Amino acid sequence: AGSPAVIVAIDGPSGTGKSSTSKAVAAQLGLRYLDTGAQYRAITWWMVHHGVDITDPAAIAAVAGQPEIVSGTDPAAPTISVDGTDVAGPIRTQEVTAKVSAVSAVPEVRTRITELQRTIARAAEGGIVVEGRDIGTTVLPDADLKIFLTASPEARAARRSGELNGADVKATQEALVKRDAADSSRKTSPLAKAGDAVEVDTTDLTLQQVIECVVTLVEERREGK
Ligand code: DC
Repeated sequence: AGSPAVIVAIDGPSGTGKSSTSKAVAAQLGLRYLDTGAQYRAITWWMVHHGVDITDPAAIAAVAGQPEIVSGTDPAAPTISVDGTDVAGPIRTQEVTAKVSAVSAVPEVRTRITELQRTIARAAEGGIVVEGRDIGTTVLPDADLKIFLTASPEARAARRSGELNGADVKATQEALVKRDAADSSRKTSPLAKAGDAVEVDTTDLTLQQVIECVVTLVEERREGK
């Protein structure tokens, strides 16, 4: 009974509504949900917590296999832990956000986390929505549907900073642009749109409209299966 398992890859830079969209789509369609950015943040948190020099790629590579990262994939209550510690809060600090691009650029880190992601996607009964930067290009190139979300830098900064004042919006925008540039220009598996991805520009869409658009695309793919 039910539809065959469907694997959906949702990529794009920060502030495009990727997480909110991915969670809502998964919840509506009864799929699992994986936030791969949270995994890169978790390994970054572990590096900082253990005093690893994050300006030294060799030092990061040497310990990349040590932390045990566990992701809970219920879209209504996703969880993330490292060595048994719930890190959902600490991975969202400015310190981790500022350091995550450097850590996630190290190939040994990416190999490790990519394997974890493939294992989770394979095990997901009924299917899964996986969100990140390189899911459609590298992690799950055979995904049933690939979405690439974009938005103007102004819209992305405004969404990320919520109710902050004007100066903070500007600082947020600068930090975002810097992080996207680092994520897009790294050698290993950069942020990129897969050739067969559907691009959705969310600048002038409400979150609800983006969700509906993606749900429709998933349903169309499922029917075509
Ligand atoms: O989606 P996010 O802002 O929580 O992601 C945090 C960082 O993790 C992002 O700046 C780059 C990295 N990342 C990555 O390299 N590959 C992914 N698939 C997801 C995130």
